[in-house]
Amino acid sequence: MNIKHDILIIGAGLAGLRAAVECLGQADVAVVSKVFPTRSHSGAAQGGITAALGNEEEDRWEWHLFDTVKGSDYLGDQDAIEIMVRDAPRVIYELEHMGVPFSRTPEGKIAQRNFGGHTRDYGKRPVKRACHAADRTGRVVLDTLYDQCLRHQVKFYSEHYVLSLAFDRKRCAGVVAYDLPTGEIRFLQAKSVLLATGGCGRIYKTTSNGFASTGDGMSLVYQAGFPLEDMEFIQFHPTGLYPLGILVSEAARGEGGLLRNRLGERFMERYAPTVKDLAARDVVSRAILTEIREKRGIAGKDYVHLDLTHLGEEKIEERLWEIASFARIYLGIDPVYEPIPVQPTCHYIMGGIPTDVDGRVLVDEKGSLVQGLYAAGECACVSVHGANRLGCNSLLDLLVFGRRSGLAMKRDLSREEYPVFSEGSLRNADSRISELLSRQDREKSGSIRKEMQAVMMRYGSAFRKDEGLKKGIEEIRSLKERYGEVRVSDHGKAFNYELVEAIELGHQLELSEVILLSALQRRESRGAHWREDFPQRADRYYLKHSLAFPTPKGPEIRYKPVKITKFQPEARVY
Ligand code: FUM
Repeated sequence: MNIKHDILIIGAGLAGLRAAVECLGQADVAVVSKVFPTRSHSGAAQGGITAALGNEEEDRWEWHLFDTVKGSDYLGDQDAIEIMVRDAPRVIYELEHMGVPFSRTPEGKIAQRNFGGHTRDYGKRPVKRACHAADRTGRVVLDTLYDQCLRHQVKFYSEHYVLSLAFDRKRCAGVVAYDLPTGEIRFLQAKSVLLATGGCGRIYKTTSNGFASTGDGMSLVYQAGFPLEDMEFIQFHPTGLYPLGILVSEAARGEGGLLRNRLGERFMERYAPTVKDLAARDVVSRAILTEIREKRGIAGKDYVHLDLTHLGEEKIEERLWEIASFARIYLGIDPVYEPIPVQPTCHYIMGGIPTDVDGRVLVDEKGSLVQGLYAAGECACVSVHGANRLGCNSLLDLLVFGRRSGLAMKRDLSREEYPVFSEGSLRNADSRISELLSRQDREKSGSIRKEMQAVMMRYGSAFRKDEGLKKGIEEIRSLKERYGEVRVSDHGKAFNYELVEAIELGHQLELSEVILLSALQRRESRGAHWREDFPQRADRYYLKHSLAFPTPKGPEIRYKPVKITKFQPEARVY
């Protein structure tokens, strides 16, 4: 069956839904999502959204800009960051008007809390900048935007898995999707396609990411022959619930929680003397891992303590209810009385599909565009996070650039005719699936996935070095060979998740190779990319974005300049 819409949005997280809201009533827009929309991973965001509202203390967008540039270890594009932080207050008021139930100050203003790396007076001391709804911010914003889409009858293709992007000559013409409930393969034709498919944290064993975060959108773009930007920058959030990796929001430290080692020491005083536990995530994660390596983890194990016991029951129940309930449910620990065991957990990818500030996908270092193709949110790299994202800048990125992509798609529509329906893409997807289903007696995807996750943890996590990265690339390549033989034992049509997981694994392996190779070639330490063999930042050689292009021999890395407007790189200390 052939379906047509002006605009197709792939992914129903905050970036996708915000783009859809922007097009309401002005274009025929549809959202395609591999999960039920409100299960999108944005719903797991806990701590808040940053904006220099100054509701609790003086704040300025210029300080937000500086903090984000510094947090990015000077790799973020400053023109894009400025657009984001200047737009932030509008974003918050707009959400409030849509019905987001933000937490309040005693006077009734939107409440704000501290978050790592957000400061006043250009780094002098922490500032309360994160607007929040207790520790369920992503959940309430996602539900509110979904509600807006339903009110305006946006068409949703729920539980539709995108198998490939279709092109009419060089222009994106739509997508080929697998309808999970029926097993039918469909071509969805569109004048514009927005990829808002989220991150790829599930390629690591320990992660805060949901099962759906398998990097499909990034990989589809790469497989279509286009580059991926800054893929070496993977964020490990300092506080994943040990040993599961589930997010324990930075809001816990924003509200006064403290990290302690085996000796009960507040070790962050040694690593970030000014802002301590509220330093940027890369700094805190490395500090925790260093404590563990130097045998100051708790009980000789791979975790430290997050101590909330001094906050008191009332504050914990009111502001940190969800994370307290995670600790109670999963570990049987009550944070009112006992510290929470935490370890760094893979949380976010700073890199992704290169775009301009209106979400248009870029295909080379000169800034050439693919007609009809857009990307926003975690799958995209605009780049506002550079080498390390600050907490709560992610929801802001999704909402600012989701909206801008919606605006750009609407603007570009008037110039567009429908591209040609792509019989070829439909046939290719169909025969790929038939081929996977017809294989006998070969390896299943689960064992390869497990090995991939272990390889990425071992060689591609917070600390990296030449030898390990090379070994990792070799091992991922041999897993890719095994993947060529993978079989699917469920031959049923409806809800064939085994088939979807096998396809996802192909994407994950592709991205793993890109991440490790991009990391190997960046012979410096910057933000979340820490090379033990090159522990200094080397602006002279590497103040530039990497672009990984697909070639038959694997990724080829080229570079493009960083956009610097107001802040020249300086030593980064907290
Ligand atoms: O810690 C957190 O609540 C996570 C927020 C974020 O990743 O922005």
